[in-house]
Amino acid sequence: MKKTFLILASICLLGGMFAQQQNIGLVVNVKKQGAAIQPTMYGLFFEDINFGADGGLYAELMKNRSFEFPQKLMGWNIFGNVELRSEGGPFERNPHYVRLRYSGHPHKHTGLENEGFRGIGIKKDATYRFSVWGRTSSNNSPQKIRIELIDAENNPFESKELEITSGEWEKYEIILTSPNEEPKATLRIFLISAGPLDLEHISLFPTDTWKGRENGLRKDLAEALSELNPGLFRFPGGCIIEGTDLETRYDWKKSVGPAENRPLNENRWQYTFAHRFYPDYFQTYGMGFYELFLLAEDMGAEPLPVVNVGLACQYQNNGEHCHVPVGELGDYIQDALDLIEFANGNTSTEWGKLRAEMGHPEPFNMKFIGIGNEQWGPEYPARLVKFIQAIRAQYPEIKIIGSSGPQAEGKDFEYLWPEMKRLKVDLVDEHYYRPPQWFLDNAARYDSYDRKGPKVFAGEYASHPRNRKNNFESALTEAAFMTGLERNADVVHMATYAPLLAHVDAWQWRPDLIWFDNLRLVRTPNYYVQQLYGHHAGTNVLPLTWNKMPLTGQQGLYASAVIDTNKKEIIIKLSNVSEENRNISISLEGLKKKMQLQPEVETILLKGGQDEENTLDNPDTIVPVSSSVTMNGTTLSVDVVPYSFNLFVIDYTD
Ligand code: AHR
Repeated sequence: MKKTFLILASICLLGGMFAQQQNIGLVVNVKKQGAAIQPTMYGLFFEDINFGADGGLYAELMKNRSFEFPQKLMGWNIFGNVELRSEGGPFERNPHYVRLRYSGHPHKHTGLENEGFRGIGIKKDATYRFSVWGRTSSNNSPQKIRIELIDAENNPFESKELEITSGEWEKYEIILTSPNEEPKATLRIFLISAGPLDLEHISLFPTDTWKGRENGLRKDLAEALSELNPGLFRFPGGCIIEGTDLETRYDWKKSVGPAENRPLNENRWQYTFAHRFYPDYFQTYGMGFYELFLLAEDMGAEPLPVVNVGLACQYQNNGEHCHVPVGELGDYIQDALDLIEFANGNTSTEWGKLRAEMGHPEPFNMKFIGIGNEQWGPEYPARLVKFIQAIRAQYPEIKIIGSSGPQAEGKDFEYLWPEMKRLKVDLVDEHYYRPPQWFLDNAARYDSYDRKGPKVFAGEYASHPRNRKNNFESALTEAAFMTGLERNADVVHMATYAPLLAHVDAWQWRPDLIWFDNLRLVRTPNYYVQQLYGHHAGTNVLPLTWNKMPLTGQQGLYASAVIDTNKKEIIIKLSNVSEENRNISISLEGLKKKMQLQPEVETILLKGGQDEENTLDNPDTIVPVSSSVTMNGTTLSVDVVPYSFNLFVIDYTD
């Protein structure tokens, strides 16, 4: 009898526990509006990696358009009588051009063809602006070229003639219209007059660029970025800021002014990983700082340029001799000051004037600057302090971002954080490319951060599953982790996933937020996570608890809540990383009397198999799906499916 009672009691107890597990009661305290969510909270990190700029976001379709690659004709096939020249060209910093002459026989041809970036993507019925700087020879007789688009089977499918009339260098343009779609076209130019004829800066852009700009951006990619609703836009990297050596660091001053005269730079991602070697990867700076500031403005994002601190990439350069001596940082510091002037200075200043000449007399209102990328060791603060002193003296309103190095914990990280506090930087940039489990384990990372020190910029992060794919597991663990960013919005002011873009035929690093080929792009599940956070950032944190504790992994659940006092929404984000269905009730407490909740609640669900991903051919395997659920008074009861990221948007009036 006693034994039977015990067994029955145990069954009841287990049953009770089971029932408890089945209904998880979360509480959102609406009365306790917490920290403001910074408008910069969810942003973008842009770097020219994975053919992200040349061959990617920058819409130029010609590779090596100015004949300045170290192998001057890389990307070009020449035929007939073509001479590479360097004297007397129109652009001082890009001196090379080609001279085309009669082939020597009426049945032979002179000309050249460009292979583009893994081919040239041409859309059906679209128009393309072919432009070239040209001059005839001294006898001044007009010369003619025929420009053709050639498909992958070597058939021309569009052809136009262009006359070069002047003996002086001038720019000529013609519009090509394509009757076909061709993802891997070639552009071919025939000399069809006697010659000689000089050609330089041979360029082909779609006319339909982002915002219709001539030196513009690839529209679909820029649109996809803008649709993330970013509050921050960090550029131009990443390691390319540092350079493999200082000569090849990203030098913003070379990236402004007329595009034709911006000098070529090496791209370190050409060779950084020998197993992903791309000898034809260079930076033309065609999409330079002006274009990047403009993009930030277009997207409504705060620009965050990052400059070199006088250190060449420390992964590849050991020892002081590789870097700028602390006493000789003058030019580097001046570059940072001039950058602020370029962005914000009035048009009577040297750099503000250049911005105006480029088409933007109004300031860009830059508020932040990053000094250094992934730096470590005492050599970093020794240099950073000099920048801080100079910037604070001249531009005290600018917020300065320092680095905590490439690791998210450990010796270097532990050294740099106190150093950043000592130097009183405004924000500290943290980077973490870690396995999915790390992101789950770190969902409460910022709960214990010092509230009095610099703020956090989670400047590069991505969940890296073992197969390095943008699978749903990576996206879901990022979504879970990000509830911790949101809950700690008083400390975390900025967060940017990295890297942003990758060409499927020319990538060096993965995972990445958006993949593309010459004509298409695919939004990864990670993209949708960023987009859901970006569009539902809220204005203030609300405490969300389960058993009076934040939900940071109990029952495989991660959640956070915010209120948007402008849109009048309460938004709850909830990730279920368990394989169990979770029955959840969310009670809203502390509502003011006049606050009326709308019973119809929008729910947005992102779910998928752990290893599922979106591809160019199947881009919609994992996409957010909206539906609605009705609230019961102030309680929302929902079934949260396994492996899912869920948003609940509750409208209110007050
Ligand atoms: O995002 C790719 C690289 O990762 C960045 O260039 C660098 O900062 C980090 O090591």
